Amino acid sequence: MMENAKSGSLQKAVNHFLEQHQCIETYNHCVSVGDYAYQLGEHILNDPSKARIAGLLHDVSAIYPDNQRINVANKLGIQLYKEELEFPMIIHQKLSKQIAISEFNISDSEILSAIECHTTLRAGYSDLDLVVFVADKIKWDQVGEPPYLEGLLKALDQSLEHAAYYYIDFILNNGIKVIHPWLWDAYLEIGDKIF
Ligand SMILES: [Fe+2]
Ligand SMILES: [Fe+2]
Repeated sequence: MMENAKSGSLQKAVNHFLEQHQCIETYNHCVSVGDYAYQLGEHILNDPSKARIAGLLHDVSAIYPDNQRINVANKLGIQLYKEELEFPMIIHQKLSKQIAISEFNISDSEILSAIECHTTLRAGYSDLDLVVFVADKIKWDQVGEPPYLEGLLKALDQSLEHAAYYYIDFILNNGIKVIHPWLWDAYLEIGDKIF
């Protein structure tokens, strides 16, 4: 009950923040990822409300367009990989984590981790990281259905890890522009685990 009240007022704050920055579509996406991550995590996580909170906040850095992301990261002292310099879109996961801390007073390291790797996952991922990663791929932020959706949902019948592996394998084989090192590490780790 307390957790529900907490995420209710957080949702209002995220709404206000994103509305102020003309990012209401991102807000809608964040709510649907939060709801879905909660559902996915309900029987797996000790505290599924963390999945909802991470989902609600995962894309709040949409307030910075791609062409500002390197600068903003530099100002915040965030270390960047060369892959992130080549393809600044990916930086948004790290920026969202910083905004979660500075604007929304999130200090829970598990929630912050799930926000920080929601696009790429990473080696040594937690169940919460995995839940938020998969929820974001199913409730994607673009028009229509993702091309990988059917296969991903089928894989999800086996496990979250099968679903994550299916997604990463799909994008690796369908013209991914830059392979982030965290994504590659996660791919190898999951492959070792499920095959
Ligand atoms: Fe994202
Ligand atoms: Fe997203």
